[in-house]
Amino acid sequence: MNLKDELLRISSQLFEESSDYSSTLKEYKQLLRSISNQIIDSEAYRNNIHCKNGIAIGTVWAANCLDDLERTLKFIKGIERAIQERIHQKDSLHILYAGTGPFASLILPFVLRYANFNITYTLLEINPLSFEALKSTIQKFDLETHRINFINTDATKYQFAKSISPDIIVSETMQRALDSEQQVAVFYNLMRQSNPDTVFIPEKITLSIGTSSYKNDEPNIQQKYYRSHHNVFEVSKEAMGSNDWWFDKTTAELNFTKKQTILKSKELSIALEIVVMTGITIYKNEKLLINESGLTAPKYIQDVSNNKKKLLTIYSRYVLGSKPKLELRIV
Ligand SMILES: C[S@@+](CC[C@H](N)C(=O)[O-])C[C@H]1O[C@@H](n2cnc3c(N)ncnc32)[C@H](O)[C@@H]1O
Repeated sequence: MNLKDELLRISSQLFEESSDYSSTLKEYKQLLRSISNQIIDSEAYRNNIHCKNGIAIGTVWAANCLDDLERTLKFIKGIERAIQERIHQKDSLHILYAGTGPFASLILPFVLRYANFNITYTLLEINPLSFEALKSTIQKFDLETHRINFINTDATKYQFAKSISPDIIVSETMQRALDSEQQVAVFYNLMRQSNPDTVFIPEKITLSIGTSSYKNDEPNIQQKYYRSHHNVFEVSKEAMGSNDWWFDKTTAELNFTKKQTILKSKELSIALEIVVMTGITIYKNEKLLINESGLTAPKYIQDVSNNKKKLLTIYSRYVLGSKPKLELRIV
């Protein structure tokens, strides 16, 4: 079987209700790895790129995102739903994928699945090594004849051409707690240029202050050990239009409202650690819950197992810059 047929076979399995998703995704990963082994071998492919708005991870690490099976599956399912909802309403669709890594792995299955529809794909990647590997991936699968634009640029600065109005924008440029990577700056730039009906995938990312009844040195993946107390930051089109996101004209910088969370003795009595929890709505009912993916692993902030105070106040504010993160102060 040639590579294109193999991609088609695996892609169709991904959309079958009765599919064993875990083994299909492993096959998908193996297929992509088999074409990339020769490409992404040297040390240079491990280097992250440090940018004004955070890091862009090296090619090897971007390729490894495929290991997060639940993430990959739910993103693909969410994108499928968004395409299905639009494909019969319009003559053509435009999908922009910002931060493709070497494989454009979240979009690749759709290129053959929707080959008979008028879909244009714009694939955008900042890392020149990942970008070259991406072009090679598309070539190896013999997909160059499909409507695919390649753009090697920074998605936090990219301006849509006048003729472009994406219907669906996909970007997974994040880590848990929205630390270090550029998701917020990427979405801010793309959201302010898009139409009100453009779908963003993920649709919503929330950060909340929570508590864990497990300690940092013995993290437990079970959701029942974590409680979310207060949503303190949200990335979505709605949030961008709210008072929580504001642009300071004097500094020409995007800012976010500072939040105050109070944890009372009742909550503290059963808490061992304060954590930041990440919730991701990929699209509609496709969601990543706590610890289902590396992206939603709780971030341990402070041990409170010996806390003697009646209450703790946590001030938080998301900050952009070369080290984007949720800044926290606990008093
Ligand atoms: C976490 S990886 C995800 C790779 C792939 N999309 C996936 O989901 O398997 C993020 C990718 O986005 C790229 N990236 C990060 N910041 C970017 C930016 N500002 N503009 C364009 N690409 C960016 C990184 O270089 C990396 O390849």
